[in-house]
Amino acid sequence: MRRIAVFGAGYVGLVTGACLAELGHRVAIRDVVPAKIDALARGEVPIYEPGLDELLARNRERLVYTLSVAEAMDGAEFVYVAVGTPPTYSGDADLSAVWTVVDELPEVDHRVVVVMKSTVPVGTGEKVRHRLDSRGMHDVGYVSNPEFTAEGTAVKDFMEPDRIVIGAFADEDGDAVAALHDGIDAPIVRADVASAEMTKLAANAALMTRISFINEIANVCEATGADVVKVAEGIGYDRRIGKSFLRAGVGYGGSCFPKDSLALKQLAANSGYHFLVLNAVIEVNELQKRRVLGKLVEQLGSLRGKRVALLGLAFKPNTDDTREAPAFVLAGRLISEGAEVVVWDPIATPDGLHGVEHAATVEDAARGADAVVLVTEWPQLADVDWKAVAGTMREAVFVDGRNMFEPAAMRAIGFRYDAIGRAAAPESA
Ligand code: UDX
Repeated sequence: MRRIAVFGAGYVGLVTGACLAELGHRVAIRDVVPAKIDALARGEVPIYEPGLDELLARNRERLVYTLSVAEAMDGAEFVYVAVGTPPTYSGDADLSAVWTVVDELPEVDHRVVVVMKSTVPVGTGEKVRHRLDSRGMHDVGYVSNPEFTAEGTAVKDFMEPDRIVIGAFADEDGDAVAALHDGIDAPIVRADVASAEMTKLAANAALMTRISFINEIANVCEATGADVVKVAEGIGYDRRIGKSFLRAGVGYGGSCFPKDSLALKQLAANSGYHFLVLNAVIEVNELQKRRVLGKLVEQLGSLRGKRVALLGLAFKPNTDDTREAPAFVLAGRLISEGAEVVVWDPIATPDGLHGVEHAATVEDAARGADAVVLVTEWPQLADVDWKAVAGTMREAVFVDGRNMFEPAAMRAIGFRYDAIGRAAAPESA
């Protein structure tokens, strides 16, 4: 049992803190937002993440929530940094919250290891090391231990990871952080700090590249009469390629990919390198989010005065997170084309999205609409009586932005159905 302070009670901090407590450690979670700390202390979880509330409840005895640095640091041997690193106007990562944590660290009489969980540019560890040294805190260690957890499966991803990456300046600090994970069965990749930092950025970039790649294949499928779902299946069996992250759709969103791709692009550019592939990945994604517009125009002509129902606001299912969600871009574009937009989502809300109607059910959203666009593949959409829904629409146009349904089946129940990259999918059942 080790004593750990986690700075930042966002997705990453809460999941990290809860999982470290589950592994038997004593964890103090510190945040600067009183409402968040009060809610956590009352047993409420301020974010939607499957399994997190059970984990926090089960380990209540080993968890403390506090606004105070001194209380969090009381006896702490490890300081996890899990604060936000949003992009600045220049696209660089804003590290001000990281610096605040580093600068607030009190002097203690035992060795403390700072563990960086926040996604940071390569070179941040060196800078933190320098800042600590300049404060005379030579006995504070530094380890980069990037997170690879995805929202919606974060607890499982932490407890059953594909790998754990640990980059340390001093081997004993790397050993100590590795030992915190005793009980987790996963390969541990030990590296220098810069390589660990780059591993996180490269992993995200590789995943985004796959998505933009399959989206471009989808677009070529549409132009040439092929079906991207079949193509993805066909290439996915190749062990060198693999099946995951080959779902064509309306583009990626979320709190990580868009932000981290910009940060890596900027990091490369600041170092004098123009990252061609990454630039293309980002641009393809921007175009992909807007492609649905063309499909709607093809079906409906001008969108002025047309009523369009967007199904799904969250950037993916099983989360309430709408950061960089394709639905928001689509809504914005539709409104500028003069369409009426109605949105539905089982959990996420259209906060910050002006000029849209918010429907409580899929049926309410679709009634009287000229088109529905499936933006997020929420599992509950599989249980909707689509035949009945089609009958309530002004025009039964269905654009399946996630290839969730079988084209032939949807056409058979009366929809003018279009999807992403499925030109060769069967025309009728
Ligand atoms: C991602 C990474 O998976 C995770 O390792 C990292 O730590 C943070 O960023 P997350 O943003 O939670 O996690 O979601 P993820 O499930 O990876 O999906 C990201 C986006 O890609 C979503 O918008 C999703 O809809 C999209 N996506 C994913 C596709 O469009 N096609 C795919 O095949 C897979």
